[in-house]
Amino acid sequence: MTTNSKLVNLGLIGFGDMGRGHCIGFNKLSECNIMAVADPNEKQLETAREFLKKSSPHLCTDYRELLDIPELDAVVISTPNYLHAPITIDAMKAEKHVFLEKPVAINVKQMDEIIKTMSEMKKIVQIGLVYRYSNLYRTMAHLVEKGTFGRVMMAYCKEYRDNFATPWFFDEKKSGGAILEKNCHHFDLFNWFIRSPPKKVFSMGGQHVYKPGHVIQCAFSPFKGQKLEQPPTIVDHANVVIEYENGAKGNLGLCMYEISPIEGLEIGIIGDNGAWGLAKNDRSLTIAGGPVGELREVEVDYYSDNENLGHVGCQVERMAFLECVKEEKQPHANLLIARDACLIGIASEKSIKEERIVSLSEFSNPEIDKIFNDLGVERFPPTPSLFSLDEKRLKARKKRELKNKERALQRELRAIREELDRL
Ligand SMILES: NC(=O)c1ccc[n+]([C@@H]2O[C@H](COP(=O)([O-])OP(=O)(O)OC[C@H]3O[C@@H](n4cnc5c(N)ncnc54)[C@H](O)[C@@H]3O)[C@@H](O)[C@H]2O)c1
Repeated sequence: MTTNSKLVNLGLIGFGDMGRGHCIGFNKLSECNIMAVADPNEKQLETAREFLKKSSPHLCTDYRELLDIPELDAVVISTPNYLHAPITIDAMKAEKHVFLEKPVAINVKQMDEIIKTMSEMKKIVQIGLVYRYSNLYRTMAHLVEKGTFGRVMMAYCKEYRDNFATPWFFDEKKSGGAILEKNCHHFDLFNWFIRSPPKKVFSMGGQHVYKPGHVIQCAFSPFKGQKLEQPPTIVDHANVVIEYENGAKGNLGLCMYEISPIEGLEIGIIGDNGAWGLAKNDRSLTIAGGPVGELREVEVDYYSDNENLGHVGCQVERMAFLECVKEEKQPHANLLIARDACLIGIASEKSIKEERIVSLSEFSNPEIDKIFNDLGVERFPPTPSLFSLDEKRLKARKKRELKNKERALQRELRAIREELDRL
């Protein structure tokens, strides 16, 4: 499609946790129309029918039937990771643009096949690196680009959380491993803030808790309390160290067996001028040290980019995809940026298995470099601006929040009075 007045006709492939999130989010955007949903699980299709009652989309169990719909402009792929490559390649060959959930694929060969097909078919492929679209991490990147931290020479991520929600994640052949699956987001943040190519990776990890017959403990999982049928083949903890070409270092500490309430996520950066920044649980950003001085909270609009519909950035990511499809332009979370992030994950998994430092040059491919060069895709583009909803919508939200707070306080007051009456 080349005209930017037309609606983007979308098909959703995979209607599990993430597919449902995309359905709700895209369905709120007037620039698109969800025409079809594919999922082999009939129950998921029933849920899709319920969610999309008003538009009655075409529902099918085989995604190839969805791809045969000529009016579809683009598809959103939210399937288990081992299916990302075959489905994305089929979609592009059927002339569809693609929004593909992270990680790009479960190995380098599959990632590079996707990139080659993207170039041959001249399609837009945006990867679900949702943080790239969030006001929180864009604010952090803007501070980096302004020189607040001098040069960022240390980046760290502490992700201490509970299990994956669904059994397929525990099978390395399906997910590509816990580190690739989960932490490609965080490796992308490191690359974004350090702004130098990653060079070497060393990682140690294993299974402290995951054993045959492991019981899923994730707080929000529909499978909570269920025993895995197959022994888990992914790590449940790891420490990863990355060295960048400019000498910067990144490190990740991953633990996937805490039980709710969990410690959560921290993303920190330290610059060579002694200043540092720390984002906690996608909900706060503090900076201090060096020329910044005393610790202070940086104000961030945490609502406009996601409207409480999922991860920070999720609505902006969807709006941006529709714009890229309409204008046929490469997305910010493009395949080059995503390949770089996933390579660190793949190298980490390899480093654990082979007990050695893995150099990222082992994965270099001149054909892939040439594709991105010809497309003019930059590895370190300037960070796009923040997104803010209009005053009216923000005011309405503030009002809703205050009303909820008022109701909660009234409930608490009633409880106190009842307690007093009893004494
Ligand atoms: N961006 C993020 O922050 C984020 C968060 C969670 C998950 N994800 C990604 O989203 C993807 C899906 O994860 P999830 O948590 O929704 O998993 P899920 O298991 O909840 O859902 C996967 C769905 O895919 C369906 N499916 C399986 N084979 C299919 C096929 N051949 N065709 C169509 N559908 C098929 C399954 O029936 C299921 O409904 C994964 O790649 C995951 O990494 C991204």
